[in-house]
Amino acid sequence: MRIFSGIQPTGRKHLGNYIGAIRQYVAGQERGEALYCIVDLHAITVAYDPVELRERLLDTTAILLAAGLDPQRCVLFRQSDVAAHTELCWLLSSVTALGELSRMHQFRDKSSAQRELVSAGLLFYPVLQAADVLAYRAEEVPVGEDQREHLELMREIARRFNARFGETLVVPRHRIPEVGARIMDLQHPETKMSTTGTSEEGTVYVLDPPQAIEKKFRRAVTDSGTDIRRAPDKPGVSNLVEILAVARQRTPEEIEGELAGAGYGQLKSVAAEAVVGLLSPVRERYEQLRSDERALEQTLSEGARQARELAAPTLAEVRERMGVGGRHGPG
Ligand code: TRP
Repeated sequence: MRIFSGIQPTGRKHLGNYIGAIRQYVAGQERGEALYCIVDLHAITVAYDPVELRERLLDTTAILLAAGLDPQRCVLFRQSDVAAHTELCWLLSSVTALGELSRMHQFRDKSSAQRELVSAGLLFYPVLQAADVLAYRAEEVPVGEDQREHLELMREIARRFNARFGETLVVPRHRIPEVGARIMDLQHPETKMSTTGTSEEGTVYVLDPPQAIEKKFRRAVTDSGTDIRRAPDKPGVSNLVEILAVARQRTPEEIEGELAGAGYGQLKSVAAEAVVGLLSPVRERYEQLRSDERALEQTLSEGARQARELAAPTLAEVRERMGVGGRHGPG
């Protein structure tokens, strides 16, 4: 089975990303043929700094490797290194409805958040995302709940292409992680931990040093009452219990049983300790990997070489079906 996912090139991956997405990427290496793409071409659809973009892309590469992606067992690459993505994006635009693009929630939210230019790229974002996956005829796309609409559109684009030009593209499935999808901000436990941050103090980053993690947990918001159990009116405690459960690979029930009678202070300190234990090895490996940019670039270019090879047959067939280019391929 072929798995594809894309990840934004931000160096600031948080605990929710780590548990929900990154660990699932690592597991994907065992389940099938996995491709992971760092999407710099998606990143340029909103205001950005070119120098920063290149740095953050390398940060992301190093985080993924530090978390356990193994270039021997997956294809890890940079989107802009593989021209098939942009070419297929354009070709797919002919079976994408403008109305669908302009109704996407993410487009609406991001375009109203832009202070200056709302780029056409922002509108085209989901078409490029569809091309990312469809170029490889991937069957499964592990990605968060927030990408549901983009996945539905991608499936629609594939179906429409097949109906118009003949069976060519694979209609992929969305795979939403069960755990980690619900890691909440430590300061605002009713909202998800996110990069576009509800709060800086409530967001635990993968690269935070232990003292920073401990401090964030110490200041975590809890609820009234004293018992340690998950309940709708106890979002803060529920979140800490779930984080602890994931970090220690226990069920939340086991954690509740174990901590029965303990206070919130203790809950926070054991949660902090467990998260430090989870993230410290990643941070340490990251420091080593990040310092060798040449090695990172080499990993990415080897990944791109493999990706190009895998995408080429799809592109050739799409061009052929669409009547674009010469009958026997370019040149
Ligand atoms: N839009 C996705 C996100 O923000 C990233 C992404 C780009 C992606 N291309 C993809 C995810 C292809 C899955 C498949 O998280």
